[in-house]
Amino acid sequence: MTIERNFDLPLVASLALKEKQIQQNYRPIIAVHKWFARRPGTLFRGLVLSEFGNKPLSEIFFTSNDFRNKTVADPFMGGGTPLIEANRVGCNVLGFDINPMSAWIVREEIEHLDLGAYEEASRSLIRCLDNEIGSFYRTDCPLYGDTGVPVKYFLWVKVLRCNRCDKDIDLFPGYLLAQNRRHPNNVVICSQCGDLNERESLHSLGKCKSCSCPLRLEGPAKRNRCTCPHCGYVNTYPSPSDGPPRHRLFAMEYYNIRRKSEHAGRFFKKPDQRDLARFAAAGKRWGELEPSFVPDQEIPPGDETDRLHRWGYTRYRDLFNDRQLLGLELSCRHIKSTANERVQRALATNLSDLLRYQNMLCRYDAMALKSLDIFSVHGFPVGLIQCESNMIGIANGSGVPVGSGGWINIIEKYIRAKKYCDMPFETQQKNGRKVIIPIRSEWIGEQKNGGHQRKVEIKCISSTVAEIPEQSLDAVFTDPPYFGNVQYAELMDFCYVWLRRLAGENSDGFHQRTTRSPDELTGNATQKRGILHFTEGLSSVYQRMARALKPDAPLAFTFHHNRMEAYHAVGVAILDAGLVCSATIPCPAEMGGSIHIHGTGSSIIDTVFVCRTRGTVKRRLLFQTPSELIELIHDELAHLRAAGMKPGPGDVRCMVYGHVTRMGIWALRNQWNKEKPISERLKRFSHAVSSIGNLQDIIRSIVENLYESNLRIADQHQRYGIEDDDAISF
Ligand SMILES: C[S@@+](CC[C@H](N)C(=O)[O-])C[C@H]1O[C@@H](n2cnc3c(N)ncnc32)[C@H](O)[C@@H]1O
Repeated sequence: MTIERNFDLPLVASLALKEKQIQQNYRPIIAVHKWFARRPGTLFRGLVLSEFGNKPLSEIFFTSNDFRNKTVADPFMGGGTPLIEANRVGCNVLGFDINPMSAWIVREEIEHLDLGAYEEASRSLIRCLDNEIGSFYRTDCPLYGDTGVPVKYFLWVKVLRCNRCDKDIDLFPGYLLAQNRRHPNNVVICSQCGDLNERESLHSLGKCKSCSCPLRLEGPAKRNRCTCPHCGYVNTYPSPSDGPPRHRLFAMEYYNIRRKSEHAGRFFKKPDQRDLARFAAAGKRWGELEPSFVPDQEIPPGDETDRLHRWGYTRYRDLFNDRQLLGLELSCRHIKSTANERVQRALATNLSDLLRYQNMLCRYDAMALKSLDIFSVHGFPVGLIQCESNMIGIANGSGVPVGSGGWINIIEKYIRAKKYCDMPFETQQKNGRKVIIPIRSEWIGEQKNGGHQRKVEIKCISSTVAEIPEQSLDAVFTDPPYFGNVQYAELMDFCYVWLRRLAGENSDGFHQRTTRSPDELTGNATQKRGILHFTEGLSSVYQRMARALKPDAPLAFTFHHNRMEAYHAVGVAILDAGLVCSATIPCPAEMGGSIHIHGTGSSIIDTVFVCRTRGTVKRRLLFQTPSELIELIHDELAHLRAAGMKPGPGDVRCMVYGHVTRMGIWALRNQWNKEKPISERLKRFSHAVSSIGNLQDIIRSIVENLYESNLRIADQHQRYGIEDDDAISF
């Protein structure tokens, strides 16, 4: 079977759509460590099984598979999704990534872990932290008088010194701390005395219960300006020459387990003197330590990191407060003293992942009432209100974590992830209910119970120089960088500077001070990497992969971008590699509500490009006119709707770009000269694509009829594939 024949779009799209809503439930392995832009595991499972399986996908997706004689490579493995899916069904795998963090994480995912030993070590870590810093995360409950209850979140506001009167100003953008979705009331901060007031409605705020000052929602800080409440002077911010911003603790959310049943909603308070003293005590303790693990490295300039410089942050350690630095340093010390090296590495991985919740860039989601980690968007946005999570974490009476961002949360997720490696499962919808189906003979790893050994080769190198024996691969499944969409290295350095210090410099790639590399295939203005660099790099990687593939084997990869320019690079790379694109399949790969794409008009659809040196292509895919393309896309939209998706304009654009790229390759396949300069090759490809028609008109025409065609849903039994159609060989 092949992907072109056997891929079942409605089945995979519906699974991928559900997976992306809550990826950890479908693929718990992702909790080993954060990686950016992880594609759905179900999508890659669909691709692997439809290529190697010999039955319809729907018959084998929820059963055990074993392709132990197959070898699969991923030149851009990132968090490892395609590689893990191939390994799980028994394939030998080769993975490459230029980022040392990726190689570390994928090894951590695949390498077996003695869970008993890990659980014991993690309990010991929690005990140690509880003894050392537990008291700094406690408070007294003003509502019921209980003392020493755990704090979930500390909320901090940025503070600015007025340029005229020298007094401190709180940079509140607004005074609404919590909305009444997860809590019975709205919680409003008094602009005068800072007390917290509960209000059923936001229409009549009335006066503060403590100082009788009228409450208001709008804060003084807006668009980088803030009027001083003391002297009326209009100050601007940020002010990098003043150094990293200062913060003031203004509110806390705590957890009073004894009063949970009698109390409606969450517990909020304004910090009292003892809370401030606890923070000061943590700071004093921190000041007395000689840190060994807190990195001192400067933050280099970059497309994303420049924002940090604009706010006066110059070193990574500036992004943490004293209590966080103390807890992280003590965590590192304890981890380093763990005798079992494998467990030590697991805990070091956990620490690296914990960092994203334990820094002063985390924000507080006033609706969901939880911390938003630093990577909830693919950048380093600096807010005015920051959220500090309890570092140890809190468990309720049944041991289930409460709140987010602490060691307890990270450990619980990690245990689930590693259990999944030994006992993977799929989640199927049956009669509107989710059913977990254990896939008993599959597993993730190199060896299980002394049985059959799989080859796993993970390398931290640029795939532009990866050496793979010719005609040795049965498939390449990958998810390349999408031009400038995510600055992997700039973001991952935030974790890497800590992990490198803790784990040492001997791991693959860890001799580097930074994960940044001039060979990273992302557009980056700071590093002066544009589309030519991206195209050249992608082309060189695909040429290497094509040489390594067996004659009929596929190179299948996902891609999406808002700009056609990025697809030109893809087209050139495929042609340079001597491949032809035999199918472009749309499939959901992002979540519409994801914070990093919300409101950007971005597609949640990726196009899966399936390429081979020889094979067949369905005649109907070789459209001759814009209206044939439009018809093709309407058909695919109907299949996506059958999967439960509501495609939008961004999705249509991505589908059109995918198809015209495929046709550009088809048109140029016999007359391509890869020796021409790269800019000429790009121009040639762009010309071939524009001769198909005006893409914006095509997109507009589909989008205009989107509502009407939204009514068109594919018949469930109508197969998505090419078996019943005329196929043309290449
Ligand atoms: C889209 S991500 C892969 C995400 C991954 N499929 C997942 O699901 O987690 C692309 C990866 O390409 C890597 N990359 C960029 N340039 C590279 C190069 N020259 N060689 C190898 N890897 C590179 C990045 O570090 C990043 O991890």
